[in-house]
Amino acid sequence: MNEMASSRSNSALEERLAEVEAAYVAANPSSLAAHLAATRPLPGGNTRSILHFSPFPLTFAKGEGCRLHDLDGHELTDFLGEYSAGLFGHSEPVIEAAITEALADGIVLGGPNRYEATLAETICARFPSIDQVRFTNSGTEANLLALAAARLATGRQAVMVMEGGYHGGVLYFGQHKSPLNVAGPWVFGIYNDIEATSAVIEREAHGLAAILIEPMLGAGGGICAEPAFLAMLRGSCDRHGIVLIFDEVMTSRMSHGGLQTRLGIIPDMTTLGKYLGGGLSFGAFGGKAKLMERFDPRRPDAVSHAGTFNNNVLSMAAGLAAATRVSTAERLDDLWAAGEELRAGLNALAQARDVPIQVLGTGSILGFHFQRGPIRRPQDVWPTDPLAARIQADLYALLHLSLIESGCYIARRGYVTLSLPMGDADIARLPAAFDAFLERHGPVIADYA
Ligand SMILES: Cc1ncc(COP(=O)(O)O)c(C=O)c1O
Repeated sequence: MNEMASSRSNSALEERLAEVEAAYVAANPSSLAAHLAATRPLPGGNTRSILHFSPFPLTFAKGEGCRLHDLDGHELTDFLGEYSAGLFGHSEPVIEAAITEALADGIVLGGPNRYEATLAETICARFPSIDQVRFTNSGTEANLLALAAARLATGRQAVMVMEGGYHGGVLYFGQHKSPLNVAGPWVFGIYNDIEATSAVIEREAHGLAAILIEPMLGAGGGICAEPAFLAMLRGSCDRHGIVLIFDEVMTSRMSHGGLQTRLGIIPDMTTLGKYLGGGLSFGAFGGKAKLMERFDPRRPDAVSHAGTFNNNVLSMAAGLAAATRVSTAERLDDLWAAGEELRAGLNALAQARDVPIQVLGTGSILGFHFQRGPIRRPQDVWPTDPLAARIQADLYALLHLSLIESGCYIARRGYVTLSLPMGDADIARLPAAFDAFLERHGPVIADYA
């Protein structure tokens, strides 16, 4: 957000947005009615904050392949992909068959089932940092448990996270840190700032149990960690006996062995989630055997890691089928390449029309930003005052509702993922819709971004 933008009113932009919002309201009466009905039992009609957007979210009736159908009968291409958990789309036959077969044999067995150890074996074989793994119900839980394991192993309490990092609903360290966060003590690094972050590590090392980092900021807009920054963290952790944890809840889809394999930097522990349950609820944390061994219940000094649904039959069966028979190394590499090509194409469109928008990310996760110039740290895109924040929110709303109108469902914050069922023609819908958006609104955006 440049200074010129924040020193003026945003009335032209507000007018544009009002037009697009009015069209959205007119096109979606059933979703509006569903939203209004939901506001009685659910605060704001919502049970997962990120799914709310103004003026009201679409309610979906059905998903099929990479398509969504909303209550008003629109068909949209699903470029949100359930914030990356929807890697397999909505009707992958191999996963559907695995779920059906598992259902037939009972789902709350109260003991180990015939899927979990094989899924664990598959995950250990894929991720170089994982000798042993435990399952959880969500990525949030996986991170909480990985931090607990690091504290146990080191006898230290503090954890370094990055300003702008997101590790779950109670582990959110954005510009405005969540009041729902669990207690620290937290120490903050600055993403991709080697000098500042290594100085903090050197100062705090004696009390640091872990450094927890996303190798690409997912919620933070697709900013990628630079290899030299991760290498600095790796070296510092080795020197000071700090546990380096990569949160690959989103980025593990970037290759068969996650983004860590693509980058060649291997952490001590890795947390996983999202698509690895085949589209069902899932989380996992794993690492070197010496960090995981205290979870062995046969040991006299074992720690108890509870969770009624840790090995729930449906997630285990769906995850196993997905990992072994759908998300092959080759398909993940192809999807990564498709994402790189899409990102380059979107950036070329913005440049060709001289509109100050850039798309960040890596592989099949992309993030739109209304800004020219390099973006290396989350702070580079944080609004500097309330008006700048309002303009930024309006720009994202304009993009979001315009793309929905063109049949492309993305996240309000400009977040996009690709999924395996997408063919070239499906992916091509996004650049076409984006170009129409640039043509219609580009001049107004240029005044504000
Ligand atoms: C990087 C990262 N870590 C952790 C989480 C939390 O996962 P869950 O929503 O399954 O708790 C997310 C969710 O978006 C995430 O993006």
